[in-house]
Amino acid sequence: MVCTAGIALLGCGTVGASVAERLLHERDAIERRCGVRYELRAIAVRDASKPRPGSIDPRLFTNDARALVNDPHVDLVIECIGGTTQAADLIENALERGRSVVTANKDLLATQGPRLQSLAAARGARLRYEAAACGAIPVVRMLDDALAGDRIDALAGVVNGTCNAILSAMENGAEFAEALADAQAQGYAEADPSNDVEGIDAAHKLAVLMQLAFGLAVISPRVRHSGIAAVTKRDVARAQMLGYRIRLVAAAARTPAGAFAGVAPVLVPQDHPFAAISGPENIVRVVARDAGPLIMRGRGAGGPATASAVLGDVVSSLRALGERHDIARTARALEPALDVAPIFADLPRHPELPRYTLWDNTFLDAPVSHVNRALS
Ligand code: NAP
Ligand code: HSE
Repeated sequence: MVCTAGIALLGCGTVGASVAERLLHERDAIERRCGVRYELRAIAVRDASKPRPGSIDPRLFTNDARALVNDPHVDLVIECIGGTTQAADLIENALERGRSVVTANKDLLATQGPRLQSLAAARGARLRYEAAACGAIPVVRMLDDALAGDRIDALAGVVNGTCNAILSAMENGAEFAEALADAQAQGYAEADPSNDVEGIDAAHKLAVLMQLAFGLAVISPRVRHSGIAAVTKRDVARAQMLGYRIRLVAAAARTPAGAFAGVAPVLVPQDHPFAAISGPENIVRVVARDAGPLIMRGRGAGGPATASAVLGDVVSSLRALGERHDIARTARALEPALDVAPIFADLPRHPELPRYTLWDNTFLDAPVSHVNRALS
């Protein structure tokens, strides 16, 4: 019998709520991209009576995450609860039953990832976790897929959005406590923010990235880390006077002598790409033997940015399910092309070199307002 793919969402906090809203309200577009029809069966939360975003049907909520994972109509489980106890149980249970799992949980992958991956492989299931490292930046895919034919020798970056938001705010005069409270209010911080400010979250992400980059079963307790809890406004200002910015950098390398890794607040020259990121942004620089150095930068935390990575994994999972099972299809087709207007015509030219357009990112960052301005 042909059926829709059943999705169970676990957690409806900062990340889960953004995922739910997209799954519910952009269903046609998402189904077109995966080629299969899906149904969000229910959303498990700790307290189903708590007020939720009005855009999510209250009838979807349940307190019984285990029953939801065991629902025979569920093919894909999305875990956005966090932590290493209930989340581990639920993921394990889903994998045991051969369900695909998508998770944003770096704490779990950094401590139990190798075991969970073996379980997934033994049950013919897939465990996807793009959102577990660097928010919206597709670094997991880059390492696991695009660079899988190369050899990664080293990687480094700023991988915690909360710490970066705090350090950038302190550069603009904020106090540490006030900057942390703001990062929490924006949904960047972990449930226990000491994970962020003590460098634990960055160590988790570094372990996950090392698993992918070097093929080593590294777990985060093996990664030496320190955080930014002791960084003062005076340190930040003094670093700036000396031509640096303080950034919480995570770095790792694999050499013939062994693997090296660490997380620490370091002085980064002001013209270095790691110094250029601000707010909750992350940046990762990977050095591959043949590809050479590659850099990716983008939003590292927050509901919508993280949901973007989760939903990419959801689309991949649904596509794979569609190939293996008899699930209702929808056409994976391109939309008819619109007229394509010239992009450079409306951008300003340099007065001294009028043949050349002056590039800036205005068009890319806000195409709608750019076009409206050009038309007015
Ligand atoms: P959050 O806002 O604290 O939300 C957690 C959700 O899980 C809440 O809806 C909570 O229910 C639910 N929950 C907790 N225990 C549960 C249980 N036993 N059974 C069912 N539901 C339970 O957390 P978050 O910021 O969305 O983070 C979720 C995960 O994503 C974590 O692994 C985090 O590390 C990861 N992550 C977060 C970000 C970010 O920017 N926030 C970015 C990347 C990855 P109630 O609502 O009823 O309390
Ligand atoms: N607390 C994490 C951070 C969330 O600030 O980077 C994204 O993983």
